[in-house]
Amino acid sequence: MAKEMNIPLMKVHMDDDIKKAVLKVLDSGWYILHEKVHEFEEKFAKFCGVKNAVCVASGTAAIFLTLRALNIKQSDEVIVPSFSFIATATPIMEVGAKPVFVDIETRTYTIDPEKIKDAVTRRTKAIMPVHLYGHPANMDKILKIAEENDLYVVEDACQAHGAEYKKQKIGGIGHVGCFSFYPSKNMTVCGDGGAVVTNDEEIAEKVRKLRDHGRLDKYVFDLKGYNLRFNEIQAAIGIEQLEKLSKWNEARRRIAKMYNQALDDLVTTPIEESWARHVYHLYVIRTKKRDELRDFLSRYGVSTLVHYPVPIHMQPAITNILGVQQTLKNTEKFAKEVLSIPMYPGLTEREVEYVSGKIREFFEGSN
Ligand SMILES: Cc1ncc(COP(=O)(O)O)c(C=O)c1O
Repeated sequence: MAKEMNIPLMKVHMDDDIKKAVLKVLDSGWYILHEKVHEFEEKFAKFCGVKNAVCVASGTAAIFLTLRALNIKQSDEVIVPSFSFIATATPIMEVGAKPVFVDIETRTYTIDPEKIKDAVTRRTKAIMPVHLYGHPANMDKILKIAEENDLYVVEDACQAHGAEYKKQKIGGIGHVGCFSFYPSKNMTVCGDGGAVVTNDEEIAEKVRKLRDHGRLDKYVFDLKGYNLRFNEIQAAIGIEQLEKLSKWNEARRRIAKMYNQALDDLVTTPIEESWARHVYHLYVIRTKKRDELRDFLSRYGVSTLVHYPVPIHMQPAITNILGVQQTLKNTEKFAKEVLSIPMYPGLTEREVEYVSGKIREFFEGSN
């Protein structure tokens, strides 16, 4: 069968400005935690509407260092959704604490605040909502529970650069926000990278130290830290990408609108709550015929992926350690039904029509 088109799931934007910025760093002789990193941190903090951004080696490192800075440790518990990438939970275990998994809302696929209440114990130290696929979690309800129980709120914002909750950028709504700049994200540093954003000077200072061996002065260290630093090349790329992020997010929203109109009667399309500004890191549809649709699309050159087929609480890496035995109804149901279809700013109208047309052909042919 001849494929009419080949459409990837996502594409990293590359241009001459980025290449020139990288070459400039190579010639500068400064490579780690120098001027470009500080410039990017300043610009990213401003973009998120917070006082501090501290760049680190990855999104996973951002979460891990945040938990260390908050002194979350052995015997503590952190409430998280299970419907996420595994790195939402593994840093919690890395500091010796226990992830407590909570089910998601059916509309946004983000953590269900009503179910958080039942998961709070005297060991709970933090709630970590995930702004999944680029849609913000229901923050007011989460913040209220946190306040009533004296808990930190750490936003896993790794999939939601530029998303807004009630017109405020996510990341700066809880005590701390953690971002990833992995290549598939809405903005990248063309490799691994991450950032911790916060208005709290003390937390920011602690993360700054922890990422760099716990350094107080050149060769004086007052915290047991790590090498989870950010480099000048990453920062130079980050600066270029950040400049274009808002324009790219707009393009993602336009593409989502086209998909919504074309697919609404065939599958469950993503919802944008009235209080949210979705940035469509992923465009995720839901159908009981997910696996058949996936096979069909692949035959016609349309790439898709499942985010995520195995919920975290069912991952062997987690159950082998925690022995978790619980049922999360929505999480487990949606893991069988979600499908991410191509979404990136450069996707053309013709490509969107092609993907949508193939999905229609699948359903109309199979009905
Ligand atoms: C929700 C979520 N949390 C955490 C991470 C970890 O980020 P990184 O891959 O940069 O370590 C990712 C990204 O992959 C993610 O999507």
